[in-house]
Amino acid sequence: MKVAILFDAGSEEWSPQDVAAVVSNVHEVRDVLRRRGHEVELLPVRHGDFRWLSRVRRADLVFNLCEGINGHARFEDLVVSTLELTGVPFTGCRTWPTAICHRKHVANTLLSAAGLPVPAFTLAQDNKTPTDFPLPAIVKPAAEDASVGIDNGAICTSKRALKRRVGQMLEQFDEVVVQEYVPGREFNVGFVGKRMLPIAEIRFETLPQGSWPIVSYAAKWIPDSPEYAGTVPVCPAELDNELQQRIAGVARQAWDHMAEAEGYGRVDLRVTPEGQPYVLEVNPTPDLSSNAGLARMGRAFGWSYDDLVMQIVDEALMRSQSHRAAAVLVSGVSAA
Ligand SMILES: Nc1ncnc2c1ncn2[C@@H]1O[C@H](COP(=O)(O)OP(=O)(O)O)[C@@H](O)[C@H]1O
Ligand SMILES: [Mg+2]
Repeated sequence: MKVAILFDAGSEEWSPQDVAAVVSNVHEVRDVLRRRGHEVELLPVRHGDFRWLSRVRRADLVFNLCEGINGHARFEDLVVSTLELTGVPFTGCRTWPTAICHRKHVANTLLSAAGLPVPAFTLAQDNKTPTDFPLPAIVKPAAEDASVGIDNGAICTSKRALKRRVGQMLEQFDEVVVQEYVPGREFNVGFVGKRMLPIAEIRFETLPQGSWPIVSYAAKWIPDSPEYAGTVPVCPAELDNELQQRIAGVARQAWDHMAEAEGYGRVDLRVTPEGQPYVLEVNPTPDLSSNAGLARMGRAFGWSYDDLVMQIVDEALMRSQSHRAAAVLVSGVSAA
């Protein structure tokens, strides 16, 4: 099979580490596909340059690792929708989940309308700070991911601190979500298509005194930081049966509702000390590096990294076949 791996060509602002992170995952996936005997082409995507598109149309499958164009995450949606138009099978989520989950208030509104437990939230924009919001509250950019804008100061315990933080965030970001802070444990649930992987927990016991137990930017991206050392993923999570079922049930509903259980993704949740789960977010097509969360969950399920990549390929091919079969059925019905 001819497989095209799509990825963001980056921008001049990218650090050597940013480039290395993308390239190393592209190479990991390329190596798996080559080991399985596939012909692989690497296709960097650049703004205003559509050569990748004509090459995609000659592929049997696109492995989509493109998280944006020139480092701008908002273009990820457009790459996915272009792929949908070509009709070539592609890995990962479709346009709708990719686009809505890029804006936290939109995703939260849809989740909550579907009856899923979401912490109370409001949107701050145009330099307006919400008054009388329940405290403590966490302030996060509405259209970022990867914990951008989240540090210990993101959690506000007074009206004054909230006003200050929202003001600071609005200087950098157009839209900011203020959300009720959920105390308790944090869990991630991974999915490949309809298949749920073992639940992972992020443990915070070894964070320095005085730090809020959250996955901050430093916890995700700065290996030498105390936050990184103090946020420890454990998979499978230690859970009693009842809580495990409750978390799995909420995560599955969120995944089905937002992504129609297509592609691959990760649902992030917090569970209060009383045992009430809350969905923080659904992440369509998350980081697929062999050292990232989804690969860890795959290993706990018994999949090597190669297995995970090939499961993702199978899901894409099966999905495209079933969409094609449905299209044939519909055209048959309308022609009759
Ligand atoms: N409402 C909340 N209550 C408690 N912690 C939260 C809340 N929202 C976010 N966090 C913390 O911040 C981290 C990043 O927030 P998240 O909504 O997942 O955004 P991102 O897209 O940046 O990952 C979470 O993993 C969690 O630790
Ligand atoms: Mg998250």
